[in-house]
Amino acid sequence: MSYPYQIRSFEEYQVAYKKSVENPESFWEEIASNFKWHKKWDAVLNWNFNEPKVEWFKGGQLNITENCLDRWVEIQPNAPAIIWEANNPDEKDRTLTYKELHQQVGQFANVLKNNGARKGDRICIYMPMVPELAIAVLACARIGAIHSVVFGGFSAQSVSDRIQDAQCNIVITADGAFRGNKTIPLKSVIDEALITCPSIQKVIVLSRTGIAVSMMNERDTWWEDEMKKVADAPLCPAEIMDAEDMLFILYTSGSTGKPKGVVHTCGGYMVWTNYTFVNVFQYQSGQVHFCTADIGWVTGHSYIIYGPLSAGATTLMFEGIPTWPNAGRFWDIIEKHKVEILYTAPTAIRSLMAFGKDPIEGKDLSTLKVLGTVGEPINEEAWHWYDDNIGKNNSPIVDTWWQTETGGVLISNLAGVTKAKPSFATLPLPGVQPVLVDENGNEVSGNNVSGNLCIKFPWPGMLRSTYGDHERCRTTYFSTYKNLYFTGDGCLRDSDGDYRITGRVDDVLNVSGHRIGTAEVENAINMHSGVVESAVVGYHHDIKGQGIYAYVILNSMHTDEAHMRQDISQTVAKVIGAIAKPDKIQFVSGLPKTRSGKIMRRILRKIAEGETSNLGDTTTLLDPLIVEEIKNNKL
Ligand code: WTA
Repeated sequence: MSYPYQIRSFEEYQVAYKKSVENPESFWEEIASNFKWHKKWDAVLNWNFNEPKVEWFKGGQLNITENCLDRWVEIQPNAPAIIWEANNPDEKDRTLTYKELHQQVGQFANVLKNNGARKGDRICIYMPMVPELAIAVLACARIGAIHSVVFGGFSAQSVSDRIQDAQCNIVITADGAFRGNKTIPLKSVIDEALITCPSIQKVIVLSRTGIAVSMMNERDTWWEDEMKKVADAPLCPAEIMDAEDMLFILYTSGSTGKPKGVVHTCGGYMVWTNYTFVNVFQYQSGQVHFCTADIGWVTGHSYIIYGPLSAGATTLMFEGIPTWPNAGRFWDIIEKHKVEILYTAPTAIRSLMAFGKDPIEGKDLSTLKVLGTVGEPINEEAWHWYDDNIGKNNSPIVDTWWQTETGGVLISNLAGVTKAKPSFATLPLPGVQPVLVDENGNEVSGNNVSGNLCIKFPWPGMLRSTYGDHERCRTTYFSTYKNLYFTGDGCLRDSDGDYRITGRVDDVLNVSGHRIGTAEVENAINMHSGVVESAVVGYHHDIKGQGIYAYVILNSMHTDEAHMRQDISQTVAKVIGAIAKPDKIQFVSGLPKTRSGKIMRRILRKIAEGETSNLGDTTTLLDPLIVEEIKNNKL
């Protein structure tokens, strides 16, 4: 099996890029024709960034699961589709061939229908990293239901917010999840969440950990029992979808308000994840691709499920964490399953670096051909450690820049095809037209420049809307600069024309590769009864990339500060999830505010970073003295 649109040399990249800019419609039409469609599209592309309206392959009819499953069952029924490695290395791994995965998806799609699911319904998935999670996702797509996967680390409150926003009618979950030496009670989180979610009719519960759960009459049912009921039924046929019908919603944090539901559609997303998977990683038939992300994040959607499976690849799913039972776990998995492609986050690399070389000793990593990183800027030290110790200077590293909103990779080198440069994502993929703009919205041209990163032309995988609130999509992404999609990232273009992402320019933090809005964390902290006000900023953290620094005003003096900190952290964990717990909480008597009441975050950011001078002009502050107090008590 080869991919006719796989770029194999720098010259081919240049030709493809040029064509994608000069003639985008015929470029994408040719690529899209490699997939299985029931009816061809009426138009390749309709767009304007003002509304915004973006339609790719409109009128085309397809089902993404036929492209991920049926197509491959015909060609390679016994090829492994999913290899699964359990949290506990002593538990047996599992392999599902394309034929088996197709069958399970077809059966579970019948289960969903039996439980009332219909095309267009929204279904919330809150599950551990087990093959049934991928089966659940694909079964939704099979029947045209819109999946909304929520990461298993989010709190009941967060799950509830997401279910309510999308008005889901079904939840698919498990009794619990194994993560390292912990067992996380997923079902009881769902029970708590559903108190405030009247739209939910059914909860389907997979048995994974065997922990005790409470099953509500009528509402709750076991996955295993439901599967038995459909064991002899014909497999569920694929629902015919329009290319622009919704495929999924995925919630992500922004600089203001609650997380928004990023909307992706069937056709463009399929083409984009497939095209980027095949080209960025230079996937060759038969290789084992190991993406270490959780399917609760976009990286898992695009590069564990849809990209690899639409390419007939073997995708490895890992239930556990890199440091349990020891820091050699990734390397054991690579050796055991002869992994060729490893795709992980800089934060994972940095945390493993901290264990030194011992965990790598004696591990056979010789099958590795391509390494990838995603989620945050990679510092040069981590890049070189990865290159020297894991790739043995023999595997190209792709530094892939993209976002939940972009559906798949936008800027990255292509493994072994275009050159890598430490800490640079390097060049845009064909179809991607990046521009840098200054604070006035003027394009900064030429090389050796920096600015805010925008994209000026649509690509097939881009978001179409934010669920239930299209205006929010417009104001968040398309109104800062006219006719441009604004990414929220700062970026520089060096003298070679290579792009380096420098990090968010808005109030979004990137903590261990997870996007967290400062406003969200502040809202959570402020829910604690002892808190009057708070301000949250990010600061450099050696392993997490960014840490969360919270300045908090209490409503009365508390003598036991340590206890108060724990309480506040607990509140944040309850409201958002443990991933958003502040690393540092400093109690202050006031916050630096302008006369109009605006918190001067710039100053707070500098103090959190340990700067004591150069705080800028503080004379416009309501109470300049407060800066001194905060500085003197910095943690
Ligand atoms: C950051 C994750 C530098 C960036 C796929 C972006 C990166 C945000 C890189 C999106 C990279 C992602 N280099 N920064 N290679 N990849 N980012 O939505 O700030 O969880 O805006 O998507 O992560 O995070 P999200």
